[in-house]
Amino acid sequence: VNGSVDYEGLVKSDRIHGRVYTDPAIFDAEMATIFERGWAFVGHESEVPQPDDFRTTNIGRHPLIMARDRDGAVHVVFNRCTHRAATICQADDGNAAFFRCAYHGWTFRNSGQLVGVPYPKGYGSDFDKSEFDLAKPPRVDSYRGFVFASMSPDGPSLDDHLGPLVKAQIDLFMDLSPTGEIECTAGVNRFTYKGNWKFQLENTADFYHVNMLHRSLLDVLEEMRGMRIDDMSDENSPARNVSLGGGHTMMDIGPYNASKRNFVRDSVLRGAGPQADYVESLEEAYGPERTEELMIAGGTHLAVWPNLGVLAGMIRRIRPIAVDRTEVILTPALLKGVPDDVNAARLRGHEAFFPPAGMGGSDDQEIFERMQVGLQASHDPWLFIGRGMHREVVQPDGSVTAQVTDELNTRAIFRQWRDVMSGASTVASPREALVGEAAR
Ligand code: FES
Ligand SMILES: [Fe+2]
Repeated sequence: VNGSVDYEGLVKSDRIHGRVYTDPAIFDAEMATIFERGWAFVGHESEVPQPDDFRTTNIGRHPLIMARDRDGAVHVVFNRCTHRAATICQADDGNAAFFRCAYHGWTFRNSGQLVGVPYPKGYGSDFDKSEFDLAKPPRVDSYRGFVFASMSPDGPSLDDHLGPLVKAQIDLFMDLSPTGEIECTAGVNRFTYKGNWKFQLENTADFYHVNMLHRSLLDVLEEMRGMRIDDMSDENSPARNVSLGGGHTMMDIGPYNASKRNFVRDSVLRGAGPQADYVESLEEAYGPERTEELMIAGGTHLAVWPNLGVLAGMIRRIRPIAVDRTEVILTPALLKGVPDDVNAARLRGHEAFFPPAGMGGSDDQEIFERMQVGLQASHDPWLFIGRGMHREVVQPDGSVTAQVTDELNTRAIFRQWRDVMSGASTVASPREALVGEAAR
């Protein structure tokens, strides 16, 4: 019990209470706990590649600016004037060395320093501008350009929050570039849905729905490209659900790709045609064994607790707005140092599925809204998430796996949710979190 809510009572091993998606008090507590004590993803450094590039972002409900200063360092500051709290930057992104507040004209360097106020004589001689620099989240850290912030000055490090298993997945995503870098220069797709933020997090790690909900897209893919992926979800598919601990989850599609003759074309090149040069450049950079591993994994399909998805050549940031309102920001990640048609194929694949006009993402958003409406019928509030409980396997690396259509990942997300919300842990380190999961 934390405050007036019995969080342990809302999450059973195979069921969750619908209130976790509908109670505004729980949402407020989530913002204060999950998003203000732990780490949350705010952006990738490659979204601000040039000096003075900026992008506005959020941690929980707090508006932020991520900016690169003229010397190349990336800063994360609150988008809140230190005079009377107006946001100082209104654009989604751009290039600016300074931000000038529209209200009374206080002007800040993009690193946060207050450089000038109009009519300064009105402030006494004890007025010290440096006391009014833009505030910053107490901790900002990054892994391979993925920038995370924490509103808490102490707690587990980002390194502990991610753990080796999540970092290895991020490596698979980044190393598809022979230089190990991405370029977020293809713009951003964003949409808002009338539903709880956790729907998108769980959905990132859910494959049970794919063949049913995305039927129309799968049919088009087969008709237009002769690409058939229905069997990825079959009962005997080698693809897996993987809980990495700490609420981090993923789909391991690698074993499925490995069982297919054309896995390179299907999962990495996405129809870009033969690309011997690209594969050779990876072999030169990483050696043949790692290249094979990278090709088979085809990136990653990862959901990082609480608000990051890394999948299908893009970065997905989940922004909770209210208990029944969520924004999702999709940033396609192009690979540095690869032939243009490999990147073009990545982008075309992204466009076909994920953005508001894509044929897949819109299915998911529609369902999120239907769930939020359906939850209003609360006569029997419990939701069943027990699929595949009898076939969870603890792996030697500490992860837990199950068949790809199982609900292991949903259970893992809610186990983390319960522990963080009840105060049993701030952010459980992946290893610790797994001990209980396996014993359950
Ligand atoms: S609110 Fe920003 S200058 Fe007054
Ligand atoms: Fe989906």
